[in-house]
This record gives sequence, structure tokens and C-alpha cells, in this order.
Amino acid sequence: MGREDLALYGGRPVRDKPLPPMFPGATFIDDEEVNEVLEVLKAQSLFRYYGPRFLGKTEKFEKAFAEYVGVKHALAVSSGTGALCTALAAVDVGPGDEVVIPGFSWIMDAMAVLFLRGIPIIAEIDETLSLDPEDFERKISDKTKAVIAVHMRGFQCDMDRIRKIAVEHGVRVVEDVAQACGGSYKDRKLGSIGDAAAFSFQLNKVITAGEGGAVTTNDEDVYVKAAVFHDAPFYSRFKGEPSPGLNFRLNEVSAAILLAQLCKIDSIITRMRKRKANIVKAISELDGIDVHKPIDPEGDVAVAVVVFLESFEKAELFARALNAENINAWHFFNPGRRDLHVYYHWDAVLNKVSFASKGCPYTCPIYGKTVEYSREMCPKTLKILGRAVNIDVSPLLTDEDEATIIEGVEKVAKAILR
Ligand SMILES: Cc1ncc(COP(=O)(O)O)c(C=O)c1O
Repeated sequence: MGREDLALYGGRPVRDKPLPPMFPGATFIDDEEVNEVLEVLKAQSLFRYYGPRFLGKTEKFEKAFAEYVGVKHALAVSSGTGALCTALAAVDVGPGDEVVIPGFSWIMDAMAVLFLRGIPIIAEIDETLSLDPEDFERKISDKTKAVIAVHMRGFQCDMDRIRKIAVEHGVRVVEDVAQACGGSYKDRKLGSIGDAAAFSFQLNKVITAGEGGAVTTNDEDVYVKAAVFHDAPFYSRFKGEPSPGLNFRLNEVSAAILLAQLCKIDSIITRMRKRKANIVKAISELDGIDVHKPIDPEGDVAVAVVVFLESFEKAELFARALNAENINAWHFFNPGRRDLHVYYHWDAVLNKVSFASKGCPYTCPIYGKTVEYSREMCPKTLKILGRAVNIDVSPLLTDEDEATIIEGVEKVAKAILR
């Protein structure tokens, strides 16, 4: 097998059609979700707190989700970004507070901090593809209020080390579980380890209602603050104090869909884990490829196989060659391709674009410092991501899809990596 056999150079692709789509929860929507939605519509009660024939789907979902994650409280909210804002507000992030976030996450992690008039401090990742605990510690200052531990692509952050450092420095830990719902770390579900956690149920996520989110916590005080923040006018509902907040409530239709989706999450993850295990086993021994290993492989949600190549150039070519074979591959970092998972492309953050051109939050008097950002500030992150290529593992993969992914990776590796 030589270069001329690659579809990229005119050869025949290993697949003649694309792989199944990667919308895990959405592609399992069936009569169960339909019936749940119809029930809510027929009851004409779309609001979560009351209605003409109120069904209380949102509260049912919250109870079921809290039990699934293994926490005392779950609060349903209208998006993952709403969940991040709510969780950060609930651990007391406010004007002039610094919040450490990894340079490989999602731009809304930074935006949520800015929205609370806090200052995002961007830290390196390591080969786990999540926050580098050593750089997290280096980035802590007397202004640091919280850290967001973002569990990317279904993998876990090193929660023991992150928590230890956070506790030593009095920093609160918010987990971002948007991409890793259902995953676990040392037998504890992700979202049950930090002071608070944020989940997203947007369409690409493991379970979905199109939009939606949740905040989880074991801390009573954090829960009450989160609940008040997400429904500020009605603080007395949660026995909270009157305080500034927003309206991030979830509606009953979305909650009903999520109730049905939650019953399917484990079987969706089991499918992805089985496929991923087979693919990883088959490609691990290939020359020139280093397969990413999650910190706790048993708890990996298995939404993706990530491989590291020797160099940026090899990774770029590898990804292009796989795409030509009809195997979707995503090179995590390319300076010329805007991807808002990488801080390098967060222009609004890097340029310190402020609210209403007033300099806020960067000129916040309580902050009293100057933060500087640059595209080059996390070189280790760019280097790691520049060598990393992601292949999604859809729960819809068939035996044939799995075989062609393995065949395609072998074919491309043999042609270009020797
Ligand atoms: C890591 C991460 N955090 C937060 C979010 C924000 O979630 P949403 O789109 O529901 O606001 C996403 C969504 O893609 C995400 O991937």
C-alpha cells in the first residue's frame, strides 16, 4: 500500500459513503420521546413550576439525573452555558475574580466567566487532553476564585490532583461535563466530584433535548445559590435570599425529552465503548501512532478515539487523508482553521473585548490588575493539540463501519507514517 492508493491522491477510498452521524442521544429518539412530549403538550403545561394540568416533568428529571450522577442536587437549566454561569455564580465568582480554565475547552467556558465580570486565566493542558495540574497551580493568584475542570471528548481530568491543589489554595472547583455526560473517574460519576458541575444537552451531546443543561452539586448552599440565580425573581421558592440573577429555567417539553433520553444513556455509552475498544485494540500497534489513553479508561464515555502523531505536519496530512477515505477526522489544532475549542481562536477573549466598550471587566476596580493574553501563551497546549487527531465513535457504527475505520487508519498510517 503506497501513497498513490490513498483517496487523497486519487486512489479508491475504503468507504464509499460517510460514517453514521455523531449525534448520540438524538439518533436514539423514538416513540418514547414522542410520547413524553405529547403528554406535556396534551396537558397544556409547558412551564416547569405550574400549568393547567401540571405534570412536573422537570422536577422528575432533576431527581432522576441527581440519582444518575450520584449527587444530592441537580438543577435543570436552559443550556450548558446557562449551567456554567449558574455554577460559577453559585460558587461566588463575581467581578474581579480570576477563574482558571484550560486552553482546550470551549469558548463558552471563558464567556461564562466574563459574563459574571470575572477574568478567565488560560492554563495549559497536558497529554490527558485536559487541564495540566502543574500549570493550574502556577496560574493561581490571590485573585483566583475558581477553576473549571473541563472533561473534553468524554475523557476525565485528573480530579484528585486538581482538587488537592484547589483545596490547598482555597479555590472552588467547577466541572464542565458538557462533553462527558455519563463518564466517571475512579468509580465516581463526573459531575459529582467538584463543588459544582455544568452539563449541556445541546444536540451534539451524549443525551439531548436540542438545548438544555444541568447544574449538579452535593453542597446545599451551592444548590440554593444556583437555584436562586437561575430563577432570580422567585428566590423564595428555594428559601434563598433576594439576589441578582437571571432566568435560565428549563421548560417541561425539554425535560420530558430528557427523561426519555436518560433511560437510554447507558446503552448509548455501552455501544460506543464496545466500538472504541475494538478500534483501539486494532490500531494500537501501528507504527507512528500513539493512541490517547484516558486517566481512567473504564470511565471514558468513548465518544472518540484520539491519536497522537509525531508532528503537526503528519497529523494534518493524516486527518486530510482519513477524511478523503470517508472517515471523519478532526485535527484538533490548525492555526488556519478557526475552531473555538482552542483558546488560540478565541478572538473576543484574546482581544479583551469588553462589555459595551466600557473596559469591563478588565478595568474592574476590585480587580486592580492587568491581564495579558496572546495566541502563543500556552505553547504546550498548541503543540499537543497540533499532534492530535480525533475520530468520532458514533453509537450507530456497524461491524462494517468499525472494520472500515480500522482499515482506513491502517491504510493511511502505512502510506504516510513510515
Ligand atoms: C465543553 C463545553 N462546555 C460548554 C458548552 C456549552 O453548552 P451549550 O452549547 O449547551 O451552551 C459546550 C457545548 O458545546 C461544550 O462543549
